[in-house]
Amino acid sequence: MCYMGGAVKKISPSILSADFTKLAEEIRVVEAAGADYLHIDVMDGRFVPNITIGPFVVEAIESMSSIPLDVHLMIDAPERYVADFAKAGSDIITVHAEASVHLHRTIQQIKELGKRAGVSINPSTPVEFLDHILGDIDLVLVMSVNPGFSGQGFIESALKKIEIIRGMLDRGNHEAELEVDGGVKVSNIGAASRAGADVFVSGSGVFGSGNYKATIEAMRKEIG
Ligand code: DX5
Ligand code: ZN
Repeated sequence: MCYMGGAVKKISPSILSADFTKLAEEIRVVEAAGADYLHIDVMDGRFVPNITIGPFVVEAIESMSSIPLDVHLMIDAPERYVADFAKAGSDIITVHAEASVHLHRTIQQIKELGKRAGVSINPSTPVEFLDHILGDIDLVLVMSVNPGFSGQGFIESALKKIEIIRGMLDRGNHEAELEVDGGVKVSNIGAASRAGADVFVSGSGVFGSGNYKATIEAMRKEIG
């Protein structure tokens, strides 16, 4: 199945692969290179085996960035922190379906804070987890690696999940964006796009390349 779609496709570089000794410069360069969103990976050392950044850093990024902040919470019981990340200036707040027992309530909480609500599923989580919330959310994030680290290989079964979720969104006339995250490179972004994704997170694929602008342009060519 090949998704042609009508939505404007977006590239969301993940700053997890940026050089943190010069984060502001990295963000300026990647924005000038054509990034649509800035993907910020928040990890708690519990839901995933790594610890990254918190709301203070998001606030600092917000003060100097001019594109929407796409904040990916890989933390247990994210409902405890969505208000802090909203206050810090996140535009999209994505939580994991596996991490929030009362997911529907967490989504409402994000929306009441005036933010766009996203829900992510891990590679082993069935798409049925999304069945009853697709109409309530602004973004679905399909993990194509097990979350926790940048630089891992793309898990091919994610393509099938993207196709299925694209069908679910289209059949239900839902307007949520469909984002893919993990191992996305110039070489496989076209396949993810044809499967139906419309937002592409790339960490090492962008920040590990010598030329962010050339890489983002090459990605954009692949996704059409
Ligand atoms: C993984 C993170 C990803 C990661 C992407 O847990 O959610 O956003 O930074 O990095 P790459 O593109 O290198 O897999
Ligand atoms: Zn992420």
